[in-house]
Formats: sequence, structure tokens, C-alpha cells
Amino acid sequence: MQAKTVFFDLDGTLTRSGEGIIRCARFAAEKMHSPAQPEDWSVFIGPPLYDSFRKFCRLGEDAAAEAVTWYRKRFTETGWEENAVYEGIPMLLRSLRAAGIRSVIVTSKAEAFAVRIAERFGLSAYIDGIIGPGLGERQPDKEHLIRKAMNCFEGPYVMVGDRVFDMEGAARAGIPAVFAAYGYGRTNEAEGAAAAAGSPAELLDLLLPEGPRARGLFLSMEGVDGCGKSTQQKALVSEMQRLGWRIVLTREPGGDEIAEKIRQLILDPGNTGMQDVTEAYLYAASRAQNARMRILPAIERGDMVICDRYVDSSVAYQGGGRQLGAERIRELNAWATENCMPDLTVYLRMEPHEALSRRLSVSIPDRLEREKDSFFLRTFEAYEKLYKGRDGCRVVTVDAAQPIEAVTDEMLRRVRQRLSDLAVMGRNSAQG
Ligand code: TYD
Repeated sequence: MQAKTVFFDLDGTLTRSGEGIIRCARFAAEKMHSPAQPEDWSVFIGPPLYDSFRKFCRLGEDAAAEAVTWYRKRFTETGWEENAVYEGIPMLLRSLRAAGIRSVIVTSKAEAFAVRIAERFGLSAYIDGIIGPGLGERQPDKEHLIRKAMNCFEGPYVMVGDRVFDMEGAARAGIPAVFAAYGYGRTNEAEGAAAAAGSPAELLDLLLPEGPRARGLFLSMEGVDGCGKSTQQKALVSEMQRLGWRIVLTREPGGDEIAEKIRQLILDPGNTGMQDVTEAYLYAASRAQNARMRILPAIERGDMVICDRYVDSSVAYQGGGRQLGAERIRELNAWATENCMPDLTVYLRMEPHEALSRRLSVSIPDRLEREKDSFFLRTFEAYEKLYKGRDGCRVVTVDAAQPIEAVTDEMLRRVRQRLSDLAVMGRNSAQG
């Protein structure tokens, strides 16, 4: 299937937006005291809203138009965020981009909402255009929207969608269509499609059978003991899944079976005689194993790796805390990891005295946690030195002393922003 531009429907093709759409439709129907209700509200996903209110709720022309207004009111406030990107979509869009194929959203959703959703869910960085009806416009049919998109972008084209409207619209506009069978459409809606895809990964194989696949992304999290990393990590993982990433979660020291054994050795409170240099090598050994066995293969597959601590921890704890020197630790780890460094590092910044009081209130300390205050102070200072002036490059520094929700909000907002920047940088370099 040789396309130069792929048109993607949004709901049910790029995003799993059912929950928000259904809730808004029910809300509007209730407001209008609609005389009828569909048995299955998922019929609202995809086709023009006005038509659906007419057909499934048996509203008259004016009432249907008013229902659309109610729908949009709730959608603007909350419904638009009750959404998630299908797993594998970032990989698909990144690969198309790398192959020089344009991706355009062609949707019956009001264009302004589509823009907002694409922005919020990290799609806009990979998308070359968004075509949808204006807010005041009664929703035009898919053929009209596809033709509008054809006027703006170069062919040959393929339309990808999950509903019969997408298939029919494409046929009338004279272009081939692929049915997104993982979306909300029923199997019989696929009639007329040139092919069907059971998942975004299958869709990629159809659109780009031989083309190269985009690599994944590598995120790490850093901060002194007690900075709240575990809680924030859960929030980060679930947000990245909502953006459509398949996640490989790992931690250091540890990762695979062998690295976990090294971890036990390092953290064992009985190993009081462990030399600082021995410790530095053990962290690097664990990392060598984890990088080769888990991190690099996952990036190669196109997944997103989220690693709890990485090289920077060694630079801060062994280089700074143990005073072995940042440069020497960096060199050791460059060899251990084949220079594989994260695309993005979240640094949860917390002063050591604050971190200490939080730590002591929750758990019994292991060997490292029993270190003196001066060790943690040096570690903190080493982090500070390492990241100073680098916020906005690889590193996103977040003030971890704020209330938990505020830390989460700031972290997620800034990570999303960085991911978009990275994608745009990728686009510029791809175009030379
Ligand atoms: P862990 O129980 O995983 O702590 P946390 O939840 O704070 O990450 O223990 C990891 C400990 O190992 C932590 O005290 C930091 C330390 N460490 C180093 O000293 N160097 C390193 O390279 C890494 C990865 C961790």
C-alpha cells in the first residue's frame, strides 16, 4: 500500500475515546429528555452527532441541534480528557514520519477539539494536519472532509478508519481505505476496505511493509533516597500508557535475574566491609547486564523504557557521595552501557534533610540508607552539579517538596512537553 499521505480518523482509530463520548451523549440525551435511547451507546462513536441524536434518540431537528450543544458543553469541560491513545500508535506515527509519509487527522469531531486532543495526548508532534468541521458547522460527511484534506496534501492517499462512514467516504472520494478492526466498528462495517488491521502494529505492517521501524524512547528517574520516586513513577507509567506507549519498567540496581542478584549483594546490610570501588563496579555490572538484556532490546522494539535510576545515580552516589569522582564513574559506566543514555531524565529534586525525615518515617533503612548525613549531602550536591543548567535538555527537574499531586501534575506536564520537543527535533533532523 504505497501512500504518501495517510488520513487517520481520530475516535476509534488513534484514540480510545469511547468513555468520554458515551458519557457526553448520555448527558445530552438526559438534558433533552429524549424519547428513545440506543441499546448500546457506542453507536455514538464515529458518526456525526447530530445524525445520531436524530436517529437513536429520535430527537427533532431543533432538539438534536440543542443536544449537540449540551454534548459539547460537557465535552469541553471534562469529556475530552476521558480518552487514551491506542497502544502502538506513537510507534506507528513515528515510523511513518521516519519513512517520509505524512499523517493527517480527518475527523467528524469539531476541529478545535481534535486539535486540543492531539495536543494533550502527544499526537500533534507527529501529525502534519488536522481536518474537521468548524465548531458552528453542522457536521459534513466524511467524503467532504477527505476531499478537503486531498486539496491540502499530496497523494497517493490511504484512509484509515474504524467505521462504515470512513470506508464509504473514502470510496466516494476515490481512495483506498484500511479498516481499523480494533476500533468501535462492527466487522460488517469493513465492507469495501482494501484491508483490515487488528491492531496498530498490524496497521503499521500494512502501511509500511518493508520500511524501517522507529526506535523507542528511554526515560530515567533520579533523586535522593526519600524523594518520592516510587509514587511518581506509577503516575508516569500510567500517563505514558495513556499516550499509547508500551512500557518496559525496570530499576537499578537490578533489572534481569542476574542484575537482581547483584542488587541483593549491594544492598545486603551484612556487607559492611564492602569497598567503595567494589560497590561502584557492582552498580556498573548490574547496569551492564540490564542495559544489554532489557533496555537496549526494548528501545530497539520501539517500546518506552522507564528506568528507576541509571548512570546519573552512580555519578551522584559513588562519584559524589563516596567521593570516587564523577568523571571516573562516568567512564566506567560508558563502557558498561555502550554509551546508552536516556532520552529524558526526570529529576525529583529534594533537599537531603527533607528527604531524610520522610525516609525515616516510612521504613527500616538498608545498608545504604544507614549512611551518614554527610554522604547524602554530597550525593545531593553531586546531583545538583550534574544537572545545573541542564534543565530543558535531557533533564526535567521537578520540585519534589511540593504536595504529591502538584509534583505529579508538574512532572507529567513537563514530560509531555519534552516528548513533543523531542519528536519535533526528530522531524527536523529527519528532514535534514
Ligand atoms: P532502592 O531501594 O532501589 O532505593 P530507591 O527507591 O531510593 O531507588 O535502593 C537503591 C539504592 O542504591 C539507593 O540508595 C541509591 C543507590 N544507588 C547508588 O548508590 N548507585 C547507583 O548507581 C544506583 C542505581 C543506586
